[in-house]
Amino acid sequence: MPNIPAPVDATQTAAWKSLQDHHDKLVADGISLKEWFAEDASRVDKFSYDLNDLRFDLSKNLVTEETLKLLCDLAREVGVEERRAAMFEGAHINTTEDRAVLHSALRRPASDAGRLVVDEQDCVADVHEVLDRMYAFAERVRSGEWKGVTGKAIKDVVSIGIGGSDLGPVMVYEALKPYADAGINVRYVSNIDPNDMAEKVRGLDPETTLVVVVSKTFTTLETMTNAREAKAWLLDGLKASGAIDGSDASVADAVKHHFVAVSTNLKLVADFGIDPQNAFGFWSWVGGRYSVDSAVGLSLIIAFGPKVFEEFLAGFHDVDRYFCETPLEENVVALMGLINVWYSNFFGTESHAVLPYNQYLHRFPAYLQQLTMESNGKSTRWDGTPATSTTGEIFWGEAGTNGQHSFYQLIHQGTHLIPADFIAFVNTPNPARDGEQDVHELFLSNFLAQTKALAFGKTADEVRAEGTAEWMVPARCFSGNRPTTSIFGIRLDAHALGELIALYEHIVFVEGTVWGLDSFDQWGVELGKQLAKQITPAFHDDEALSQQDASTRALIAFYRAHRE
Ligand code: F6P
Repeated sequence: MPNIPAPVDATQTAAWKSLQDHHDKLVADGISLKEWFAEDASRVDKFSYDLNDLRFDLSKNLVTEETLKLLCDLAREVGVEERRAAMFEGAHINTTEDRAVLHSALRRPASDAGRLVVDEQDCVADVHEVLDRMYAFAERVRSGEWKGVTGKAIKDVVSIGIGGSDLGPVMVYEALKPYADAGINVRYVSNIDPNDMAEKVRGLDPETTLVVVVSKTFTTLETMTNAREAKAWLLDGLKASGAIDGSDASVADAVKHHFVAVSTNLKLVADFGIDPQNAFGFWSWVGGRYSVDSAVGLSLIIAFGPKVFEEFLAGFHDVDRYFCETPLEENVVALMGLINVWYSNFFGTESHAVLPYNQYLHRFPAYLQQLTMESNGKSTRWDGTPATSTTGEIFWGEAGTNGQHSFYQLIHQGTHLIPADFIAFVNTPNPARDGEQDVHELFLSNFLAQTKALAFGKTADEVRAEGTAEWMVPARCFSGNRPTTSIFGIRLDAHALGELIALYEHIVFVEGTVWGLDSFDQWGVELGKQLAKQITPAFHDDEALSQQDASTRALIAFYRAHRE
């Protein structure tokens, strides 16, 4: 194992014991947000934090000042501050892969070149060398200077990737759509299901399409299969229209004009036929799910331009600095991670909802699912020993108000306690009025109403006062004390989005450190990949079929019987 201190068992710390006692006492005394608010007029001030243009209101969480103090004690006892420093300095805290974890280097300013030399690499200088190349390339595409093989400017980009090579770019593309100013559309293909590719290239003209293949390893089954499919689609289209004659030279020329790649494996990129000049690299110290601000964001730079991407990176960097420089007690990033531990380990919550009240953030929950669950969905600690507590929250969510008409019933009145993060913005790029009513205010009133109902509920007396029949009163009561955090921003721009992503990256880090996890590996996705390779021949090969388990054999028999 790399020379990293073994994790401290959080459950054996003095702070853990104090937190358990504190929890039991709170429960015994009766947790009541309504009373806590009534008793303390400064509760909102005490539990509100400003981080640049984001306001965080933690007051509707099931916490007291004592809770936060004890959680900070816990963070200190397990060494969150030391591990944070180790991560930012480039120690190999990704122990199972013996790698540094340096996504924070992706957003450091060029003036920091020479200040972060890790494993003999000047990380910041290398980041900016690639960024400059990407900016220059993107400007050529955006201005129309970059031409397809028949001399036409690019109108559409098809970005092929999966997991961290897809979820981040798609989420950001959707979130920042109002800033897309070059008239270039991006479509993202991820699934190996041929339907995904078929639908995404439908209607596109190969002569004006640029394909960006994004894969850290350049070996991922889905991405490489889709990249070959895209190549065939493009070349067939060009041949059919007579744009190329199909000779080896014409094919190579077409690939050169229509394919670029993003990867850490530049040799495999060249083997695919992509001109190394048109390949943009990143490094093993950037995990896939932490990579949207690396070359993986190339499609975003094409769509939005270098200036917007710079603002995006600045948002990340501001949160990195805040996270590192703010004392734990005032550090809302650390506190949010610690409060998640509070719910998971002391209240036994299993899931965590993320509810953006902004349609542009509709892919944010999906993005966070990989970030949080691929990072902390583990039962072995970074030194190979078993986890000593529950780990890994199940993140899920949906943009408001759509979720309200779907699963909020369970959050309000179900038997599960589900902490929820609400995210909203004061301004909208699309103001609208319905008669006299400002529609954005109507929307925001829903965000406020939901957190209010979850916190304060509705009593039996309040229900009775509405004239409800007695037998029906329980069904119409709301218990309240259902915890929420409100994140209220001024506007959803590139800077704010960078801040939000970095916020959750570091929340994951804090939780992972308390649980003793290597939040940067993902061995749990490997077995399925291996088995898929073994199973593929069994669709046609009886010998391969005979080696499968009975259930797989039966399902393939069904397939063989019905395949048309
Ligand atoms: O799903 C596993 C995983 O390795 C993710 O961590 C990663 O984001 C994704 O596959 C894609 O990998 P690559 O970028 O190497 O194609």
